[in-house]
Amino acid sequence: MHTVLIIDDEQDFCRSVERMLSKAGYAVQSVYTATEGLRGLQSGDIRLVLLDHMLPDINGMDLLPRLLADYPQIPVILMTSAASLGQAVEAAKTGAYDYLEKPFERNRLLLSIRNALVYADTRRERDRYREACADQFEMVGRSDGICRVRTLIEKVAGRDISVLITGESGTGKELVARALHNQSNRSEKPFVRLNCAAIPENLLESEMFGHEKGAFTGAHTSRPGRFFTAHEGTLFLDEIGEMSPGIQAKLLRTLESGEIQRVGSEKPVTCDVRVLTATNKDLRDRVSKNLFREDLYYRLNVVKIHLPPLRERKEDIPLLLEFFITRTAMKEGIIPLRLAPSAVHYLCGYAWPGNVREMEHFVSRMMVLHSGSYVDLQHVREFLGEEAAFRYDNQESGTLRTARDDFERNYIRAALAQAGGNVTRAAENLGIDRRNLYRKMEGLGMDGE
Ligand SMILES: Nc1ncnc2c1ncn2[C@@H]1O[C@H](COP(=O)(O)OP(=O)(O)OP(=O)(O)O)[C@@H](O)[C@H]1O
Ligand SMILES: [Mg+2]
Repeated sequence: MHTVLIIDDEQDFCRSVERMLSKAGYAVQSVYTATEGLRGLQSGDIRLVLLDHMLPDINGMDLLPRLLADYPQIPVILMTSAASLGQAVEAAKTGAYDYLEKPFERNRLLLSIRNALVYADTRRERDRYREACADQFEMVGRSDGICRVRTLIEKVAGRDISVLITGESGTGKELVARALHNQSNRSEKPFVRLNCAAIPENLLESEMFGHEKGAFTGAHTSRPGRFFTAHEGTLFLDEIGEMSPGIQAKLLRTLESGEIQRVGSEKPVTCDVRVLTATNKDLRDRVSKNLFREDLYYRLNVVKIHLPPLRERKEDIPLLLEFFITRTAMKEGIIPLRLAPSAVHYLCGYAWPGNVREMEHFVSRMMVLHSGSYVDLQHVREFLGEEAAFRYDNQESGTLRTARDDFERNYIRAALAQAGGNVTRAAENLGIDRRNLYRKMEGLGMDGE
C-alpha cells in the first residue's frame, strides 16, 4: 500500500483529505509542521508528499527544495491558496510534481496523486535500467594495463578522433568501444556495431553505406546502411583487419569527405559519424604484406588502445572472478558461490586463451552446474575441463625463490579477495597472525595493494 504524507497545519483539513485518500485505498499519515514532516520521511514508507505552502516553522516553499534534494524519488504535490498561486506555479517549474489550489475536489486530488505515483515508478524503473546498463559496461581491474586503458579512454573519449582498439579475442575491445561512446558527447546518439568479418565481402559495402532499391539483384527496397544509422553517433567497425581492399578505399574516402555514397546512387549524403575500429590481428603486419592500406591504417590509428591478455594482468583475475560471480548471482537470483583460495590461485595460473570472455563463460558454467555454495580446487579443475591442463600457464620460469614469491603473492591476493579485502579475516583464513600477514605483504611488494 502506498503511504501519502500530508504536511499541513490545518488539522481539520488534514482529516478531510485523510478520509478521501483512505477511501481510495491509500495509507495516510498527517503531520502539522515541516520538522515533523522531515522526521516522517525518514521512516522510508512514504511514497508521496502533499505539502501545504504555509507552515508554522519552515515555509512550505523553502522546505520543497530540501525535499527534492534529499528524496528525489518521492513526488511532491503543493497545496496552495488562491493568493499564493503564482508562487506555486513557479515551484512546480522547479520540481514539484503538481499544485492544487485549495479547496480542491476529490477527483482532482486523486488524479494528481495517481499520475504522480505512475511518474515516480517510471523514473525509478529508468534509474534501475541505467544502473543495470552501467554495470553491464563496467570495466573491472586494477592492473597497470587496465589502469592505462582507463586513463586513455578518459583522455580521448570526448575528442572526436578515431581510435583503433587492439587485443586478443575476448580481452574487452567492444567494452572499450562502448565506454568511449558512453563517455563522449555523442552518448545520447546511436552506437552502431558492424562486424566486418561476419558479412560476405559483396554485401559489406551496402551494409556499411546502404543501397538504393534495385541497385543489385535482390535489392527490393532501399536501405540506409550502418553509417547513416549511426549519424551523429558512433560506428564501431569490429574486426577491421578482415575488410577487403576495395571497401577499405571506400571507407577512406568517406572518412576524408564526411560523405557516404549509397550503392546504386550517384548522390553523396553528408554524414557525421565517429568511427572506432577493433582488431585482434596485427594490422601493421597486414600493412607490410599489402593486405591493408597504409593510408587507412594511419587514418584509423590516430590513437591506439591496446588491451593486454589476461595472463599478463593476473592481479585482475580474482577481481574479475568476484565480479562475474556476483553479477551472475544477481541476474539469476541465486546465491553467489565462494571460491577456496587454492581454487582462485589455480585460476590465476591458468592461461585463459579466451581471456575475459572465457572467464565469463566459465563462471556461468560453474554457477549452473555446481551443487554446493563452496568451490574447491578439485571442482575448479573439473569445470575447466581436461584440455585446460595443457593450457595451464606454467611458462614462467625462474628461481625457486621467485616461483615461491609468485605463489605466495597470488595466494594472498586470492585470500584477500575472498575475505572481501578484510585483512584480519584473510589472515585468519590463512592461519597466520594479522601483523605477520602485513609484514609478508610488505616483503612481497604488495603494500600498495
Ligand atoms: N575488464 C573487464 N571487466 C568486466 N567485464 C569485462 C572486462 N573485459 C571484458 N569483459 C567482458 O568480457 C566479454 C568479452 O568482452 P568483449 O566482447 O569486449 O571482448 P572483445 O575483445 O571484443 O572480444 P572478441 O575479439 O572476441 O570480439 C564481455 O561480456 C565483456 O563485458
Ligand atoms: Mg568483440
